[in-house]
Amino acid sequence: MVSAVILAAGKGTRMVSNTPKVLHPVLGQPLLGYVLEAVEAGGCTERVVVIGYGKEQVREVFQDRGVTWAEQDNQRGTGDAASIGVERVVELLESSKASPGTESQKVLILNGDLPLIRAETIQTLIERHDSAGVGVTILGCLRADPSGYGRIVREGGRADGKFEAIVEHGDADEAVLAIREVNVGVYLFDLEVFRSAFARTGTDNAQGEYYLTDVVTEAAAAGHGVGIFSISDEAEVAQVNSRSDLAEVSGLLRRHILDELMANGVTIDDPDTTYVEKGVRIGQDCRILPFTYIHHGVEIESGTEVGPFSRLRVGTILRSGSSVGNFVEIKNSDIGSGTKVRHLSYVGDADVGDHVNVGAGTVFANYDGKKKHKTTVEEQVLIGSGTILIPPLKLGRGCKTGAGAVVTRGNDVPDGVVVVGVPARPLPVRET
Ligand code: UD1
Ligand code: CA
Repeated sequence: MVSAVILAAGKGTRMVSNTPKVLHPVLGQPLLGYVLEAVEAGGCTERVVVIGYGKEQVREVFQDRGVTWAEQDNQRGTGDAASIGVERVVELLESSKASPGTESQKVLILNGDLPLIRAETIQTLIERHDSAGVGVTILGCLRADPSGYGRIVREGGRADGKFEAIVEHGDADEAVLAIREVNVGVYLFDLEVFRSAFARTGTDNAQGEYYLTDVVTEAAAAGHGVGIFSISDEAEVAQVNSRSDLAEVSGLLRRHILDELMANGVTIDDPDTTYVEKGVRIGQDCRILPFTYIHHGVEIESGTEVGPFSRLRVGTILRSGSSVGNFVEIKNSDIGSGTKVRHLSYVGDADVGDHVNVGAGTVFANYDGKKKHKTTVEEQVLIGSGTILIPPLKLGRGCKTGAGAVVTRGNDVPDGVVVVGVPARPLPVRET
């Protein structure tokens, strides 16, 4: 069994933020959420998260994720944080009766600022470790630009040389700075190898901290085998230290999500200006036009067109063949099949039936300053341009509103009736 320890106690000084680094969102989800997902899918059942800076905030955001918390009160470095997490794992193991003891246990330790790390990579790291029978296996990557990362120093400087040390950028001399193989920040340790090697590390380095990287170097010096699983995909190991890293990671993830949608039969006219968060379902033969933002949880059925300049927020469902156009925002609403919301509209908390036409400039005024209310629009309704709907309200099947109508709270419009004016009333039937 492999337990995971995720390091998330740091302030993230380079973010220049009051929010802890791991809570900064990338496409709708905080950084830490991505790492938790990868670790879970990678097969780690126990997940210990080491928190410190902003710990109450982190706990609150992730309270339902079934993780065990460990607290690092003073941020004395990644080695110290890892050790606090590992001792928490030991406590968990000792309190579980089925535990075979710590001898055969392994811990996957990883930085909380690696949102693009894949579950498959974690699985392969574990497999490599087991088949090589080593005490530690680290994840490495050859980077065109290695600056800022710890460098992996191999025996004799050979590409296939045995592991010798990890040297932090700030502690490196020129020869080491030239090394392009970097330490990603993902490590698999035999638990007892970690404990004994950590005990031999200190804080005599550029940052005056306990380095997790020194634990690896110490393990090697004590004669334990150290495996290196080096991957070539630089994007996967992108870390977030600064806001510009955050933007870069967001761009990579965004492209990845769009590629997957395109592979599944969705047309994205311009990937450079289209934002789809993680966890959006879009059916085949949909077309997403430029400058569109789709939030997580949105569901779009096949044959639908969205954009340009649309914003779809949480809780939105677009049924098949519907269409949403420019400067339209939709939140928590079900838009029926074949229904059109093409221009300059806000639709919030609404259930809109099939084949409805929502005219330009329509506003569903769902918020009364205290509460949100719901609007129901039945099928084949024609909503005139500039209509304001004040819910709770129901528009019956096939009814119509005139341009500029303000349909007030509770004044449901019966099937087939035409209402006009402010406040909207049924159109008088003209005598002929
Ligand atoms: C670390 C590695 C470096 C590697 C890089 C890859 C060390 C010493 N260096 O550097 O070799 O190339 O990651 O991304 O480990 N944290 C704590 N408590 C602390 C300090 C940090 O929990 O006292 C957490 C942070 O919240 C963060 C993670 O550890 O999630 C990594 O810390 P960070 O400061 O980003 O390390 P790097 O300087 O990037
Ligand atoms: Ca980092």
